[in-house]
Amino acid sequence: MLSENERGRIISKNKEKIELFFQFAFEVGSKRNIDDVLKVIADSARKILDCDRVSIFVYNKETSKLWTKVAHGLEEKIEVDQNIGIVGWVFSNRKPLIVNSPYSDPRFNPETDRKTGYRTKSIIAVPLVTYSGSTVGVLEGINKNVGGFVDEDLEFGQILAVQAANAIENAILYEELKRAQEEIVMRLSIAAEFRDSTTYNHLVRMSLYSYLIAKEMGFDDSWCEKLKLAAPMHDIGKLGIKDMILLKPAKLTDEEFEEMKKHTIYGYDILKDSSIDILKMASNVALCHHEKYDGTGYPRGLRGDEIPIEARIVAVADVFDALTSKRPYKEPYEIEHAVEIIEKDSGKHFDPKVVQAFKKALPEIIKILKKYGVE
Ligand code: C2E
Ligand code: SIN
Ligand code: SIN
Ligand code: FE
Repeated sequence: MLSENERGRIISKNKEKIELFFQFAFEVGSKRNIDDVLKVIADSARKILDCDRVSIFVYNKETSKLWTKVAHGLEEKIEVDQNIGIVGWVFSNRKPLIVNSPYSDPRFNPETDRKTGYRTKSIIAVPLVTYSGSTVGVLEGINKNVGGFVDEDLEFGQILAVQAANAIENAILYEELKRAQEEIVMRLSIAAEFRDSTTYNHLVRMSLYSYLIAKEMGFDDSWCEKLKLAAPMHDIGKLGIKDMILLKPAKLTDEEFEEMKKHTIYGYDILKDSSIDILKMASNVALCHHEKYDGTGYPRGLRGDEIPIEARIVAVADVFDALTSKRPYKEPYEIEHAVEIIEKDSGKHFDPKVVQAFKKALPEIIKILKKYGVE
């Protein structure tokens, strides 16, 4: 029988752990980026397992190796073989393991200790298996603060591991999707404009300019990320414009320009009615990026705040890039001259708040311009 005192101690000890679990679940659920996810897992696991270091090894399908970056006391990213060491054993066998005297365990690989000068005295390693059954890596705790690891640590470790595994899987998927999405948007937008002199770099530049201006204006991260993807689709409606007009190496006649203006409506028609936020935003941008703040733009002559803010931002980014680029109908302007034109048109063509943010972001914008050079 446990004494009152002992029982009280065990309950309060586990109460603390349960609180740590809640905190972990809450924090890990709020992170998307893989590095952030790994850091939350490592920090929580270190507290829950009450040990000196925690490393999370993530399986890389392409190299068939396990890599870790977030290891307490280890700065650089290291990669280990999927069947070497305690970590490799746990990964391959999908079984958790406690090793309280590693130097007498043949599975232990003392190489990391040799490299870092650290002395491993006890190890707990748990496979990171998702709900759907795939093993995404291994969570390893090193050097229990008092004594060695015990069975209770295994239980806590395994509860933690399920949630950690799913968070890691989601973060990896999220990053892949994000990269695919960015690339698809750029490739399709460029495909839509391949007849025009528009280049991949133009789309990258105006997308990043829009992002930087939005950031400067204080929009939240996820909105700015959406704008970064929506902006490059602004001229997708040029698909519907005849070569004779689109490729004309001279000034357009009034009639031709009337035809050209329709690229805003064509773009809107392509993108509208989607339930996807980014495409909704892109349809507003396509429709309204040639509207002017004073109401003299097209296609509808909207003024001021009637023009969606995403379109007011893209208008500045687009014109700045058009001004600093060569077009079949014009030579590029110097950066200083382009900035003067934007400033001069503040309150007329452009929203003054956007122009102000543009000027603040200018050093960053110029870096982008230099990096994705004007062709
Ligand atoms: P774009 O070449 O990408 O230009 C986008 C916008 O940048 C223009 O919208 C305009 O607001 C601004 N912009 C471009 N060049 C200049 C410039 O030299 N000075 C000033 N102040 N602003 C400039 P806009 O005028 O509504 O034109 C939309 C699209 O129509 C242009 O896209 C281009 O594809 C076409 N376009 C416009 N004018 C001509 C032209 O004279 N000849 C030909 N071939 N195409 C033209
Ligand atoms: C092992 O997996 O055998 C040891 C790895 C480590 O010390 O981090
Ligand atoms: C649009 O959604 O079509 C443009 C936004 C507006 O009309 O204010
Ligand atoms: Fe346009």
